[in-house]
Order: sequence, then structure tokens, then C-alpha cells
Amino acid sequence: MESDFENRIVAPEYSAEDTDIEISLRPKRLSEYIGQEKAKENLKIYIEAAKKRAESLDHVLLYGPPGLGKTTLAGIIANEMGVNLRVTSGPAIEKQGDLAAILTNLSEGDVLFIDEIHRLNRSVEEILYPAMEDGALDIIIGKGPSARSIRLDLPHFTLVGATTRAGQISAPMRDRFGVICRLEMYTPDELAMIVKRSADILGIFIEDDGAAEIASRSRGTPRIANRLLKRVRDFAQVMGDGTVDRDCSRIALDRMEIDPLGLDSIDRLLLTAMIRNYNGGPVGLETIAAAIGEEAVTIEDVYEPYLMQIGFLARTARGRTVTPAGYAHLGLDMPGQQTLF
Ligand SMILES: Nc1ncnc2c1ncn2[C@@H]1O[C@H](COP(=O)(O)OP(=O)(O)OP(=O)(O)O)[C@@H](O)[C@H]1O
Ligand SMILES: [Mg+2]
Repeated sequence: MESDFENRIVAPEYSAEDTDIEISLRPKRLSEYIGQEKAKENLKIYIEAAKKRAESLDHVLLYGPPGLGKTTLAGIIANEMGVNLRVTSGPAIEKQGDLAAILTNLSEGDVLFIDEIHRLNRSVEEILYPAMEDGALDIIIGKGPSARSIRLDLPHFTLVGATTRAGQISAPMRDRFGVICRLEMYTPDELAMIVKRSADILGIFIEDDGAAEIASRSRGTPRIANRLLKRVRDFAQVMGDGTVDRDCSRIALDRMEIDPLGLDSIDRLLLTAMIRNYNGGPVGLETIAAAIGEEAVTIEDVYEPYLMQIGFLARTARGRTVTPAGYAHLGLDMPGQQTLF
């Protein structure tokens, strides 16, 4: 079996092929943002309240797997508040001075979006705490015994932090966010709405069951749904009159080796390797990684979340196991079970 880790169509992370559509498809207002009802309801209230008091919104932490709409939501928050959005990321801020420069250049009320906020280094975080808490920047002038610290007042701002790994955010950092939103994977119905909205914007003719087919194979992730839509459109234009219907979606997605639940050849390789070599587990993460030639962190962050979400894989104290549903999906018998005809 050939597996291409680099160019995986169903990878939830941003890839170069998303560039041309991602910006145009990004919802700009809360009302256009589909799903995530809980997060949306809360944010709506906080935004309205902040606007009524003519204050800036409390700091917001968004967390959840890649491609679920964290960056999108940061933009929406700025739009709804009617302020500027300034974008940066944890790894981009190397020194305290980098952050100080960003903070002092903010305008009153701005939203500062820090993506991958779990990757901020400790010394930078220390500058951020008083900024978040007291709207102040402490800088040290001079060196040695004559060094002194002065405090600068900053404009009011809203920090929106995003992370795929909430567990890696330090406790003092997390405590300084007034609003914490966890983004969930989308249901097939929500994804079908997203696909239809995207098709509309891109001028693609799509039938409801075509959208449903793409949605059910998109692994709960809007970014993947949009990417698959784009690929299926190519098939529709070459094979038919350009309309994305169920048949065309099925044929296209089957050709891309994305199965009806959105599993691709690598997911199946992972599950079958566990079944054939380790009796379906429990088996340790490192062992699986070695068996399929992929890094353990990648398996943990990228492959496992969806396989666990659909109940094909379980994490136990002794390692990972393939569930009965996982066996059934692959058409394999569980050890100790026999199919009787
Ligand atoms: N609720 C939504 N409704 C409609 N489209 C959405 C929604 N959420 C995300 N999208 C679409 O999915 C794409 C990816 O979303 P976004 O870039 O915000 O994800 P992310 O969580 O920031 O991902 P990453 O963790 O990789 O940074 C966007 O271009 C947008 O078009
Ligand atoms: Mg993002």
C-alpha cells in the first residue's frame, strides 16, 4: 500500500492548496459562522455586553483541533466589535521586545490574535501577563544596580489566543482569559451547510445529496470539507456538466481513496497494522509509530483525534486499542470471534 504522509488530502492542517479559497470562504460575521452553537451563543452575549458598556471584550482563548475555525472566529470577533485585527503567532514572537513593539502599536480596542499561543516562550509570557491584567507594560531600563523598571500604559485591547493543545498552556496564562471556548468537531449536517455556502460563493452548482456526501467524508472539519469540494468540482467539470451531485461526489471521493467515513489509506494502514501485528492492541504509541513509519506526535495530534471521535480507536492506560467498530469498518474479525455462515 502506498501512503503519502506529506500530501494527505484529509489532513486537517492548513496546506498550500487551501490558500486560494480559504480567505474568500471565511465567514466575516457571527451570523455566517455555521455550527459551534455553544461558543457562538456565549460570544454573542459577551460581545453585546462589551459593546453596550463601550468597553473592549474580555480576553478569549479558543482551543480545538486544526481547521475548525479558530482563526475565522478571531476575525469575526474583531468585525463584530468594530475594531482592527492584529495577527501574530507564538513562534513569531521571539523576544520580549517583539511583543512590546506589537503591544505599544495597538490602537484602542484592537483585537490581538496570537495563534499557537502555547508556543510562546516563558519570558515573553511574563510581559503578556501585566498587559492582559492591568493594561500595562513593564520595561526595564539600564543594567546592573542602576537598572529600574518603568511602567507604560497600553491601550485597551482584547487578546484572542488560539491553540490546538490546550494542555500545553501554562496555568497562569490560562487563568488570564475571561472567556474560554472549546471548538468541537462539526456534525455532517453542519458540514453540509458549510459546503453549500462555499459552493455558493465559488459559483459551483451543487445538489443537496452531493453536499451531504462530501460532508460525511470531511472528518468533522470545515477546512477538509472545503478542500474536498474543490477537488470534487474538478471531477464534476471533467466528467459531467459541472454539477456536484451524489454520484459525482462518490466517484471522485472513492478515487481519492477517501472512504464513506472520511478515512484515507493512512488511517486504514494504522488500524490494520495494529490489528495484524498487535492483535488490535493494546499497543504503545511509539510502537505504532515505528510500525507505520510516522512520528508519534503526528499520530497523536493528527490521526488519532478523528479515529477516536468516530469510536474506532480507544486510548487505555496500557496503550491504544482498535474497537469492535473499527474492526467492523475494515471488514475484519476480532480475535476470538468468528463469522459463521
Ligand atoms: N463555522 C464555520 N462556518 C463556515 N466556514 C468555516 C467555519 N469554520 C471554519 N470554516 C472554514 O474553514 C476554514 C478553516 O478555518 P480556520 O482557518 O479558521 O481554522 P483554524 O481552527 O484556525 O485552523 P488552524 O488550527 O489550522 O489554524 C476557513 O477558511 C473557513 O472557510
Ligand atoms: Mg488558524
